Amino acid sequence: MSEAAGAAWQKIEGCPRQTLGALFDADPARVEKFSGRLEWEGGGALFDWSKTHLDDALLSAFEALAEASEFTRKRDALFAGERVNVTEDRAADHAAQRGTGSEAAVEEAEALHQRMHILVDAIHRGALGEVRHLIHIGIGGSALGPKLAIDALAREDALVDVHVVSNIDGLALEAAFAKCDPATTLIAVASKTFTTIETMTNARSALEWLERSGIADPYGKVVALTAAPQKAVDWGIDETRVLPFPETVGGRYSLWSSIGFPIALAVGWSEFDAVLAGARAIDEHFRQTEGRANLPLRAAFADRYYAAVRNCQTRAVFAYDERLALFPAYLQQLEMESNGKRVTTDGVPVQRITAPITWGGVGTDAQHAVFQLLHQGTIEVPVDFIASIAPGDVLDPAHHRILLMNCFAQGAALMAGQKGEEPARDYPGDRPSATILVDDVDPATVGALIAFHEHRTFANAVLMGINPFDQFGVELGKAIANRIDSGSGKFDASTCSLIEAAELS
Ligand code: F6P
Repeated sequence: MSEAAGAAWQKIEGCPRQTLGALFDADPARVEKFSGRLEWEGGGALFDWSKTHLDDALLSAFEALAEASEFTRKRDALFAGERVNVTEDRAADHAAQRGTGSEAAVEEAEALHQRMHILVDAIHRGALGEVRHLIHIGIGGSALGPKLAIDALAREDALVDVHVVSNIDGLALEAAFAKCDPATTLIAVASKTFTTIETMTNARSALEWLERSGIADPYGKVVALTAAPQKAVDWGIDETRVLPFPETVGGRYSLWSSIGFPIALAVGWSEFDAVLAGARAIDEHFRQTEGRANLPLRAAFADRYYAAVRNCQTRAVFAYDERLALFPAYLQQLEMESNGKRVTTDGVPVQRITAPITWGGVGTDAQHAVFQLLHQGTIEVPVDFIASIAPGDVLDPAHHRILLMNCFAQGAALMAGQKGEEPARDYPGDRPSATILVDDVDPATVGALIAFHEHRTFANAVLMGINPFDQFGVELGKAIANRIDSGSGKFDASTCSLIEAAELS
């Protein structure tokens, strides 16, 4: 760590700790100061960080840390398409997929999108016969983004009914088969590498299902979404149905690329385009705004404060909107796979918590399951609430009113606490939360929310000096599974006995 970064951390740690109540009492303008509204085509959102422990002193100290960490240079390098993913020696060009980036990367993205657009339109026009269902096969970043966006945007009125299958457990694929008519079903094989064992095994079984069902040309029903187009062609998919994306787009950052094909198929191209536009609006804000006024950076200041200074091992995210029910799971991969690292880009061990465990769920369900711990447990958990002013339902407005009342009440209760007549009824309070209140859950908002969190994750990584764009931690388990498969290699006694019990050898 540089001397300047060390000094900034000392400053951060030296900031007096005040309760949330005291912070509000001391500053009548706190809400305005610590919240901000961002806008995009057709809407926007309020990002309220006032119920966190950030104050002016902490913001200044974190701004010093950002400067010492070369935040501005690293952010510019990201958008310029420099090789910011140092361990894999490549750029991280996901923002270029939505039009923010180096000229060359944006041009390439536009050409690839054009190709995807043509295929999506052709399918909608019936060029591949009647298509009512799409079984989208992919895992991790090749599944979570499409799943989240389709769940948020295409509840009842999807143009094509999409079933995302990720798990290798055959039950998942069988469940999709049960809902689809093979004669009107397309298969999308989504894999950046086109080698992932779960995806390729599921793809093979889907092809066999089409064959068994008497489909004359099963390969003619398959579309590939990949950064390894030649592998898809070698696998048997016609080049016209291979939608490539660049190697420089990371898996968990890939829904903007051809991995977003099922989104466009389900909701239509213009809606998919609106997802990209919402993300672009956040790119512009993140790229052009300095210091504390940069909202993803400010959110990262709070993240770092809770994880690195107050030792919070987890952070929780609750979507008070069924349309965003998958958002916490999406963030889990984005944040934990990006920042669950233990060394800096120079290979030096990081002494503080890097990524806390991201977890969460949907409100109000979670209130009746896990909020007890948030209010009275022994650990401090910073919470994010995400809610929408406009409802997703058309029932009695009482539903949405009660939903929002509960969301706001939880943040207020966590902060205020309450003295009980006996210890068991005591709420300590002073527990932090942030609230993102969107106008509505429309395509641009979904794009904006995801891009906000991508940049927040990146900002966290810069403040820690780590590389958020590799994921070597997932490789060892895969290699051992292969060794079990081939019967090669020596394992510990416990693993050997499990292999024997399941008769895998
Ligand atoms: O196992 C981790 C991972 O590499 C993720 O980063 C990625 O999103 C997922 O596997 C799927 O990989 P692929 O798209 O290459 O099949």
